[in-house]
Amino acid sequence: MSHRNLQNRVLIITGASAGIGREAALLFAKEKCRLVLAARRQDRLEKLAEDIKSLGGESMSLPTDVSDQGQVEHLIRATVKRFGRLDILVNNAGYGLFAKVEDTTLEELQSIFATNFGGSFYTIKAALPIMRQQKRGHIINVSSIAGKRGFPFSGAYCATKFAMNGLTESLRTELKGSGIDISLVLPISTATEFFVAAKNKSNHPGRPLGIVQSAQQVAEAIVKCAKNPKAEVLPYRPSRLLMLLNSISPSLVDRVAAKLVHRAHLR
Ligand SMILES: NC(=O)c1ccc[n+]([C@@H]2O[C@H](COP(=O)([O-])OP(=O)(O)OC[C@H]3O[C@@H](n4cnc5c(N)ncnc54)[C@H](OP(=O)(O)O)[C@@H]3O)[C@@H](O)[C@H]2O)c1
Repeated sequence: MSHRNLQNRVLIITGASAGIGREAALLFAKEKCRLVLAARRQDRLEKLAEDIKSLGGESMSLPTDVSDQGQVEHLIRATVKRFGRLDILVNNAGYGLFAKVEDTTLEELQSIFATNFGGSFYTIKAALPIMRQQKRGHIINVSSIAGKRGFPFSGAYCATKFAMNGLTESLRTELKGSGIDISLVLPISTATEFFVAAKNKSNHPGRPLGIVQSAQQVAEAIVKCAKNPKAEVLPYRPSRLLMLLNSISPSLVDRVAAKLVHRAHLR
């Protein structure tokens, strides 16, 4: 199987200031991609840009709030202005909200949708005309296994990831034959700042449920996907069993999920 050479590819990664995004940016830098780093925290992005430079890589950091369509359009314009093209877009920015559905306010729902779903929708809308003109490109959407199966105290978060999955699948069919690939990455719980950054208004302990993978593992799966585009990527392969089990017996998975939450409380 022939793998794509990523050298000199122009790549935007959102949510690059921490966790999975930061790890992926460092790995893409080692592949000699030209990187555009986006997130809100400028100091973190600048530190990452320095680390990339010390690896011999090239990057530009652009503080961006992905929930703001104007800022996202600026991000895409600035990328093309600096590098003349856009080859890979990694939509990774996102955050969690732990709350029972009945305790979730409309404002919280809109806010989490604006970042986790809106952010990707805006980047895709702005990037597609460029990729269509190039007749080449790759969009990688970092969703979650929580976009395939709902978990307790995460109704709004799961809904944003289900929405991302639906958008990705629709777009994948629209893009057939265009030269543009689109992939969905579905991590399980990952050891990052996600659980600290998440808003928690539940009695959920705000800790990962079940098995935890490292940000490095997810980042490696993202880079592998950029080299060899796949429709869906499961950085923790056995999670396919969960998806299979859920399609056969959702009520059994309900019970497993309840048990995992109970255990997380005891830990
Ligand atoms: N950790 C997990 O267990 C897990 C599991 C499955 C999927 N995921 C998904 O993986 C992705 C990365 O999460 P992570 O685990 O790496 O969490 P993280 O360490 O908290 O990193 C989240 C990143 O998203 C950025 N971000 C948040 N809101 C933003 C906004 N409005 N505009 C721009 N950037 C924003 C943050 O940067 P700033 O704060 O600087 O803006 C940060 O760089 C998320 O989409 C998450 O849903 C995580």
